[in-house]
Order: sequence, then structure tokens, then C-alpha cells
Amino acid sequence: MLAAHFDCPGGPENLYVKEVMKPHPGEGEVLVKVSASALNRADLLQRRGKYPPPKGSSDILGLEAAGSVAGLGPGCTGRWKIGDAVMALLSGGGQAEYVTVPEGHLMPVPKDMTFIQAAAIPEAWLTAFQLLHFVGKIQKGETVLIHAGASGVGMAAIQLVRLANAIPIVTAGTQEKLKATTNAGAAAGFNYKNEDFSEKVLAFTQ
Ligand SMILES: NC(=O)c1ccc[n+]([C@@H]2O[C@H](COP(=O)([O-])OP(=O)(O)OC[C@H]3O[C@@H](n4cnc5c(N)ncnc54)[C@H](OP(=O)(O)O)[C@@H]3O)[C@@H](O)[C@H]2O)c1
Repeated sequence: MLAAHFDCPGGPENLYVKEVMKPHPGEGEVLVKVSASALNRADLLQRRGKYPPPKGSSDILGLEAAGSVAGLGPGCTGRWKIGDAVMALLSGGGQAEYVTVPEGHLMPVPKDMTFIQAAAIPEAWLTAFQLLHFVGKIQKGETVLIHAGASGVGMAAIQLVRLANAIPIVTAGTQEKLKATTNAGAAAGFNYKNEDFSEKVLAFTQ
């Protein structure tokens, strides 16, 4: 199969498409034919050699993907069938034609969502969801300060805070980024590079 590959850490110019071994689904794993993958900050760091994949993970880039079930390993419980549209958070390997995923890590692609849209959901949106609901236990009416509001995780967090009927406010490093966060639903935004965001946040929340 083909996969995005780099021989030397560095910029995007070091990436090329390489023929590599197609993975085989092991016990309880599903083989997914990848239709789309996404880019996250961690991919850029990994490509620069600053974020090695966890031990035992694929050294192919790609921490999330969406596609169709193309094979089932031994011991799969019948939850998925060939052709199902799925998406997953991965420890690596998403930027390739095929990836294997433990069956319990797969999620169905919601109806009416394209593979390209679905591939951008797991990493940023599950991270933001976990932070807001499991860690922060967000409540209706609360104000949530999101640093790096224009990041992938930040943009997901803004929209999830709105869905929870709470108020998202952000920091970002440029006016252009602040504008993007306003368009996504931020109630206020502060440029931490040229104003004291802590004073501004205090004033906004008093
Ligand atoms: N499961 C997890 O734990 C998990 C999952 C996903 C992401 N993350 C983490 O969440 C953070 C955001 O990830 P992302 O993929 O959403 O990032 P992203 O879209 O690449 O955005 C990163 C933002 O961080 C800010 N930033 C500040 N200092 C920076 C620097 N030295 N280099 C680059 N950016 C810098 C920039 O915003 P300003 O210009 O506004 O400062 C930038 O827009 C990262 O730290 C990532 O590792 C964790």
C-alpha cells in the first residue's frame, strides 16, 4: 500500500509517498481502508522528529482517519461489517491507504458527514469533549477560558462550550485568529501578545 513517509525529520518537503507493507488486522482488530486523514500539531512535531510515536505504534504519520471497514481480524465481536463507514483516533498510521484499529476504538461516521469531515473529528473534538465534560465537568452558564482558541482543539472547544449552553472566551496570538474564534462562537477574545489577558478575563467575568 502507499503511505506518507519521511526519511529525515524536517519540513513538509521531506514527505513523500512510499510503498509499504499493508497491515494485517490482529486479534480484535479491524482493517480500515482510509478515505481521509487529518493534520494535527502532533503530526507536525513528529515530522520534525520532536514527538516520537509511542512504543509499538506505527511509524507512519496520522493520528486519526475515516474510511470503510475492509477486513476483520480474529476474535472480532461482529460489531462491524465490511463496508461500514467508520472513524477513529489512532496512535499512528492514518496517513496511509489502510490502517488497523482495535474494534472498540472505532466510531460510526454520522449520517450526512463526509469522510473528510469525519477524519477531523476524533483528535481535536474528543480531546476538547474529554476536557470539558470528563475533566472540567462543564455546567450550563459557566464561562470557559480557552487558550490557543484558534487551534484545532480550541475551535472544537468553542463549539462544544456553546453546545453545553456555556460561554466560551479565548486567547490567541493574532487578530485574524481572534476573528476566526468569534466566527466559531467565542463571546470574547484577547490577544495575549499585546494585552494582559488575565485583566481582560477578570473584567469580562465580573
Ligand atoms: N489527546 C491529547 O492530549 C491531545 C490531543 C490533541 C491535541 N493536544 C494538544 O493540544 C494542543 C493544540 O493542538 P492542535 O493540534 O489543536 O494545535 P494547532 O491547531 O496546531 O494550534 C496550536 C496553537 O498553539 C499556539 N501556540 C503557542 N505557542 C506555539 C508554538 N510555539 N508553536 C506552535 N503553536 C503555538 C498557536 O496559537 P496562538 O498563535 O494563538 O498562540 C497555535 O495556533 C497541542 O499542545 C497538542 O499537543 C493534545
